[in-house]
Amino acid sequence: MKVFGGTSNFPLTEKIAKELQLEVSPLEIHVFPDGEKRVRVLPRVVNEDCVVVQSTATPGDTFYMELFFIVDALKRSGARSIIAVIPYLGYQRQDHVFREGEAVSLQVIAKTLEVVGVGRIITFDLHTIKTPEVFKIPIEHLSALSLFAEKIKEILGGTDSVLVSPDMGGVRRIKLLSEMLSGMPHIEVVKNRDLASGEISISDVLGGEVKEKAFIVDDMIATGSTIAKAAEVLAEKGAKEIYVLATHPVFTQDATRILQDAKVEKVFVTDSVDILGDKHFSKLQILTIAPIIAAKIRDII
Ligand code: R5P
Repeated sequence: MKVFGGTSNFPLTEKIAKELQLEVSPLEIHVFPDGEKRVRVLPRVVNEDCVVVQSTATPGDTFYMELFFIVDALKRSGARSIIAVIPYLGYQRQDHVFREGEAVSLQVIAKTLEVVGVGRIITFDLHTIKTPEVFKIPIEHLSALSLFAEKIKEILGGTDSVLVSPDMGGVRRIKLLSEMLSGMPHIEVVKNRDLASGEISISDVLGGEVKEKAFIVDDMIATGSTIAKAAEVLAEKGAKEIYVLATHPVFTQDATRILQDAKVEKVFVTDSVDILGDKHFSKLQILTIAPIIAAKIRDII
């Protein structure tokens, strides 16, 4: 087996390879002056099972193109099987036509991955459990919830606590987490997003009471406004300590400032997306998903 990595999240590629007691195999990725890339596989891969790690957060288009080229190069070089580890699967939010005339971006991505030669995908905390239905190849849908359950147990103490989903779409996730935490109570905030502007508003809390400690759990953080607004409503309704646990830190430019200023104690995310230097902030703590991915690769190969 050989492990390769695109340029999106090399630290995670190295951690996965280390867990598998392997070195990352080298690729030559040359960038032309106009930004186009030429990808070349350096080691011999004939009849090898190959794993390619590439997270497709910002800039998603660039990282997807790079992944397509790496997979194509491996296939042309004789690889027996290709598993794409895409910890954060970009474009998954556009999984159907929301308004007449729109593209279904996720379907385009799925078809392209299949056509270039990916045989199987390993990914994390997809936006909905229906996402794998878009793909014809097998999808291993892993979750960071077990890491979050451990973290919550560490913080709980004896205080009255509640799990919070920041939108209706996250209710299933919060119920699973509640089961892992001996039935910890859970509530959801009522969030509305303007489909044209992307602007969100949060009006109320449903499903139970806000407690002294609140744990907001989400699949991803992009601008940080969902978290900041949810925290504001929870604080108004009596939460004294608010923690955030979100799998994918797809931080846009202002997200780190918004999160640092939000009424939250700590923001736990995973390394599904590489967080570059200027996007770190003091409330941020990163949990690694490398052992979970490595265990799944060992199961498959
Ligand atoms: C939305 O449905 C997702 O679960 C996240 O809540 C959302 O993508 C977070 O986005 P932002 O950080 O921009 O509010």
